Amino acid sequence: MQALKARIIELLSSSPHAKSPDAEAEQILFHVLRVSNQSLRKPSDLSTHGPTPNASQTLEALHIAENRSKGVPLQHLLGYQFFYSHEYQVNASTLIPRPETEILVDEAIHYLISRKLAPNFRFAELGLGSGIISCEILYHFPRCSGLASELNSDAIKLAKRNLEQHLGSDCESRFQILPAPSPSTGFEVFCPHGPFDLLISNPPYLSLQDEIEKEVHIHEPQHALFPLGECGPLDPMFFYQNLIDHFETLLKPSGAVFFEVPHERAESIEHLFLSNGLYQTRLIPDLTGRPRVLFASRNAN
Ligand SMILES: C[S@@+](CC[C@H](N)C(=O)[O-])C[C@H]1O[C@@H](n2cnc3c(N)ncnc32)[C@H](O)[C@@H]1O
Repeated sequence: MQALKARIIELLSSSPHAKSPDAEAEQILFHVLRVSNQSLRKPSDLSTHGPTPNASQTLEALHIAENRSKGVPLQHLLGYQFFYSHEYQVNASTLIPRPETEILVDEAIHYLISRKLAPNFRFAELGLGSGIISCEILYHFPRCSGLASELNSDAIKLAKRNLEQHLGSDCESRFQILPAPSPSTGFEVFCPHGPFDLLISNPPYLSLQDEIEKEVHIHEPQHALFPLGECGPLDPMFFYQNLIDHFETLLKPSGAVFFEVPHERAESIEHLFLSNGLYQTRLIPDLTGRPRVLFASRNAN
């Protein structure tokens, strides 16, 4: 086991892609040995107390490490990523769940608890992706219901699998997915179904001018990163402006908006909201201290 781990670390360290070769090597070993990390007191116990990998597990681990050293995201090679309170299947059809989005979900959940909303409150999410945001809200508030839009049909299939795995088939009665008819359709898809207590989204928000890691550019879908219309890139503020155009119809007077935002444009987006009727706003920082989540409502809450 120690020799295999050393070989994996050597492969990962030989390329610039794995930022923490040791931690990634452990994740690969946990994966091929099918060991849950809860079953060990600490991850390093794997090398000393874990099962010995057989020949096929050794080959699988080395195959993953080789592809990882070529820049393929580890989550795509393992097929899953832990997010908030569950493990989610991931693939190349949508964004890999990010720690920043855990802040969005955590803030929304704490807000919903503190507001003591009716347990059957309703929400809408733009850009469902792998399903992480809607799934966590539905899981933590078992009587709420919601809708989510998504452009990519493969992402919809992936999200359905994740929702069913964590919520059971019963979630169909309280959650509906609306396929977006075009890349430049935004919150208007929800208009026949509103108003809502919560509007939430981690929309595509990057601009081609923003600094983006090469690995992200190559391996994650363009429609998850950039607002794109039929004829090319849209303004990076597109989905925030689109919310402004529709919130009067979609948001209950007592409702709240939670949006993930690019730190480069966080203040501009907050200003856009404040000058268009969302009079109460708060920017929440990510783990690096940069503004990443925007809360907004019509009134002081
Ligand atoms: C940044 S990803 C977020 C995915 C997921 N909610 C998360 O937080 O990991 C944005 C998602 O919006 C989807 N999307 C892009 N344009 C859209 C549109 N016009 N309507 C609905 N979804 C769209 C993308 O396919 C992608 O899955």
